[in-house]
Amino acid sequence: MKGIILAGGSGTRLYPITMALSKQLMPIYDKPMVYYPLTTLINAGIREILIISTPQDLPSFEKLLGSGESIGCSFTYKIQDKPRGLADAFIVGADFIGGDDVVMILGDNIFYGSDFDKKVREATINLDGGIIFGQQVADPERYGIVEFDSDHKVVSIEEKPEKPKSNYAIPGLYFFDNQVIEIAKAVKPSARGEIEITEIQNAYLKAGKLRVNLLDRGTAWLDTGTFASMNQAAQFVQVIEERQNIKIGCIEEAAYRQGFINATQLQALAEKFIKSGYGHYLKSLVS
Ligand code: TTP
Repeated sequence: MKGIILAGGSGTRLYPITMALSKQLMPIYDKPMVYYPLTTLINAGIREILIISTPQDLPSFEKLLGSGESIGCSFTYKIQDKPRGLADAFIVGADFIGGDDVVMILGDNIFYGSDFDKKVREATINLDGGIIFGQQVADPERYGIVEFDSDHKVVSIEEKPEKPKSNYAIPGLYFFDNQVIEIAKAVKPSARGEIEITEIQNAYLKAGKLRVNLLDRGTAWLDTGTFASMNQAAQFVQVIEERQNIKIGCIEEAAYRQGFINATQLQALAEKFIKSGYGHYLKSLVS
């Protein structure tokens, strides 16, 4: 299975901050935002990852993350010249996906929880169709909402419904088999001019091949699209990290725990970051 991080878009809700800087490169406490979704993919055991961003921002992602080799991964980069919609990730990424299954995560979605990591790993095994996730939210009118039956088979998907059929929102993490490329190519732009991920989900739903995995109450799902939510995410990370002396979204740690790199390689990476404290943390994992 291959992974895609969709990290383009316009970030207009964060203007003027994002007029010159990519949202997904902004700090969430002690690391760039993109580290968090990247950690999610690494925790799922995925090593081949495509990062999609805008023509202006893609070089900065390359500078930050490089080839991925130092953490035992392989990163590929591709431009999305306009924010055409989330479904465009599978068109821009078609060559990269090749004949494989794919998981796509939005570059501004942060997840945290051990049950979550387990569910994501399970989703990579024997995928037949599509898997989305559902998490209970207080304000379902603001999200894509999934309705499902007692077997967790999806009954309906609705984007920002006025009268939501459930309180379960769909986070920005989607698993699809290889059919997704052809399905995405057939999606027509919506009234707002985007090719919508909802259309892809509905195509799988129609074929009876869409399942939802519900995230339990111990899983945190944070998105970072507004000033307030970005600040809250940073505070959440700081509180957990300082209280428990662990790091959330640490790509080097995730790669080490997955066995992508060994202790000597982690030690070498730690030296690079020694002045910021990040390196001390990496060192402590080895000792
Ligand atoms: P959004 O938050 O819907 O859009 P945005 O990031 O452009 O922000 P704003 O609403 O403030 O203008 O996008 C969700 C994520 O998907 C975000 O990480 C950006 C990314 N994205 C793309 O990379 N390409 C796209 O075509 C779209 C629509 C979003």
